[in-house]
Amino acid sequence: MNDSAIGRIVVTEDQLQERVAELGQEITADYAGRPPLLVGVLKGACMFMSDLSRAIELPVEFDFMAVSSYGSATRSSGVVRILKDLDIDLTGRHVLIVEDIVDSGLTLAYLRKNLAARYPASLEVCALLLKEGLQRTDPDLRYVGFTVPPAFVIGYGLDVAERYRNLPYIAEYFGDH
Ligand code: IMP
Ligand code: MG
Repeated sequence: MNDSAIGRIVVTEDQLQERVAELGQEITADYAGRPPLLVGVLKGACMFMSDLSRAIELPVEFDFMAVSSYGSATRSSGVVRILKDLDIDLTGRHVLIVEDIVDSGLTLAYLRKNLAARYPASLEVCALLLKEGLQRTDPDLRYVGFTVPPAFVIGYGLDVAERYRNLPYIAEYFGDH
């Protein structure tokens, strides 16, 4: 895509595919005999969830949740709203939250607390990206794809005002946001 707002590539398409395959293998081994319910956080995790799930050789189930942490601005407020709740009852389920990126960690802290109250048998998190050094609380991630520098990044599900989600790589964003 020819767009001057797309900056340096931080994770290439090959690196993404390779790491997602590795995560899928780890999850397949860890969850043998207790297939997870994957809970994707919309919309950012959609690409990651679809690739990751195909790399897991277990009868996984899918559900999605949509939350809003800061509308179209780019600073987390800590105020999280559920825009779409899950369809599936979590009681007794092995729940694996699939997130695109953990920045301040506030969204995830809220989600974890909210889902933990629904009596899952286990609750873990798989985040594609972890932003270096910005977490206010320990995000306690069971699986992490990549650690990235504290810049605003786009691509592979991550957007600015709904654009750039379809880039097959992760890049820094140089435009206004
Ligand atoms: P947190 O609550 O600060 O951890 O923010 C988490 C959410 O903000 C993520 O799930 C993303 O949807 C969004 N987000 C945080 N950093 C970025 C970024 O660099 N690019 C795109 N979205 C981001
Ligand atoms: Mg997100």
